[in-house]
Amino acid sequence: MVEKLAIGSTLTCDVLVIGAGGAGLRAAAQICEEIPETKIIALTKVTSPQKSHTTTAQGGMAAVDPRDPEDRPLFHMFDTWKGSDCSADQNVIKKVCDTGWEEVVWLERHGMHFSRTGEGRIAKRPFGGHMLNFGEKKAFRACYEATRTGKGIMDTVWDECLKYGVNFIGQCVATELLFDDNRCIGAIIFRFPEGEFKAVLAKATIIATGGKTRMYQVSTNCRGNTGDGLAIALNAGLPVMDLEAVQFHPTGMVGPGILASEALRGEGAILRNKDEEPFMERYAPTAKDLAPRDLISRSIITEIREGRGLFNEDHNAHHVWLDLRHLPKEVHEKKIQEIESFFRRFVGVDPEIELCPVAPTAHYQMGGIPTDEYGNVQRDPEDIVPGLFACGEAAAASLHGLNRLGTNSLLELITMGKVTGRKVVEYLKDAKDPEGLPSNAGDITFGQFSTYLNNKGSEQYAGVRHVLRHTMMDKVGIYRSEKPLLEAIDTLKELRERALHIAVSLTSLKANQDLWQTWELNNLITVSMVIAQGALARKESRGAHFREDYPERSNEYNYHTLVYMPEFDKISFAKRAIDMSIFKAKGERYELFDYIERKY
Ligand code: FUM
Repeated sequence: MVEKLAIGSTLTCDVLVIGAGGAGLRAAAQICEEIPETKIIALTKVTSPQKSHTTTAQGGMAAVDPRDPEDRPLFHMFDTWKGSDCSADQNVIKKVCDTGWEEVVWLERHGMHFSRTGEGRIAKRPFGGHMLNFGEKKAFRACYEATRTGKGIMDTVWDECLKYGVNFIGQCVATELLFDDNRCIGAIIFRFPEGEFKAVLAKATIIATGGKTRMYQVSTNCRGNTGDGLAIALNAGLPVMDLEAVQFHPTGMVGPGILASEALRGEGAILRNKDEEPFMERYAPTAKDLAPRDLISRSIITEIREGRGLFNEDHNAHHVWLDLRHLPKEVHEKKIQEIESFFRRFVGVDPEIELCPVAPTAHYQMGGIPTDEYGNVQRDPEDIVPGLFACGEAAAASLHGLNRLGTNSLLELITMGKVTGRKVVEYLKDAKDPEGLPSNAGDITFGQFSTYLNNKGSEQYAGVRHVLRHTMMDKVGIYRSEKPLLEAIDTLKELRERALHIAVSLTSLKANQDLWQTWELNNLITVSMVIAQGALARKESRGAHFREDYPERSNEYNYHTLVYMPEFDKISFAKRAIDMSIFKAKGERYELFDYIERKY
């Protein structure tokens, strides 16, 4: 029998930030700049914010430079709307595209070293689906710091937070949200090294736990991206939105799925099949290798299915080639040298002289905790949760709808981080201090942790995780249809049972890796169930969600999927309307913001 679980101590603060990646820290920085004395606690699951997943972002952050004679925010808005397959919210698209450049300037003034042109201007590169003049030709819109843009962003926002004295707690997760009536008043947190539960009482809480695609066999995500923020929101009876929309990045390094940035194709790299044919010309005659990711990923799988792919025996994986051999020496040496070093180190190929094996890899989830355009978490489309905010990949405002364009994620996490920080500042003006711990504080957490610790089962963590990752990849992946989705749902139910019988070898709470991983695995299974159920319910193909049994987009599904799952598999669905405010405003070329045909 294990020790009785209890809350060790209670901390208080003005703002609790759950997840200290780019979005959470941009929000925190905004709050500090507006009210420097705000007491902020920021939790990070890793040892230091510098190890957050944002740091791994490579290629760039989209923003229209007002001094660019050719580009305009309106073109960026159109690309984002078209890229989303007409499912993003236009109020959010407008806000983010209009203010993107301000955020580039903010980052630059706070110390980020954007790469520069010979003339000293911030350099920009093209990325998939970003085009000039409503789809005419490629736009140079992605501002970057070589191929370590995410690292530059993290250095900058972290530095700003340190300057204002934000308190960081590392190796720490939030396991349960706390409420006083309907108002969120903080969370229960668990710190791994001491194995201690604490309560944090906060006037405002921001969920910014980032990405969540570690349930797929091949993923660019870091190992901590296990959907914890979504799981605690679901457990609190809150909805999640559009989780069926999972983005597969077309060029993961074969095997581990490490990101080989779209920046490579932005610099001129070409996808080729086994005959070395540049096959994207057949699928996207105008945009070719710079078509959006959903389209390229499906094209790669089609090439493989039709026998024009290759097979890598070492990794037991099908793939196509990415050809960088023709790029100028200067590009190899100055612009993409880090990614090339990954190919050398992890795949054993030299991109200057050899073809690089790549295949789609789970990369991003467009959906998340639904928020309005200010970062307020929604209980339903008409009602927000006072005191609870969300931003970044954990949230869905929704800039991306069912498909995101590359480099719009860094743009979103920075702009929506700022917007959310501003909203928190406004909220704090009238917010009361929480009166104390709710009587049920810890019930969810202790229920979960004591189940894991007391269990005498014989299941192994690795075995359950293995089946989960293969099931999600094979049956809830790039191509979907009813039968495999139903099978996946059955498997997820079994996996949930098995995960509750994993033998946790130690009963101590301190630095108990088995316990921590079991908690994460249960979160992954929870989020996977919502992905699979959402995919089953959406009987159409739109953006990254492709149903082979319903291959067309259907107007019947012109809405966001809201899913509630307060208990595992106790699912209910609701809908949120897609915001069409640009279209309805009837401004310049407004007809392009209708439900248009999507061709590249
Ligand atoms: O390809 C990349 O560099 C990834 C960028 C993104 O996901 O926005």
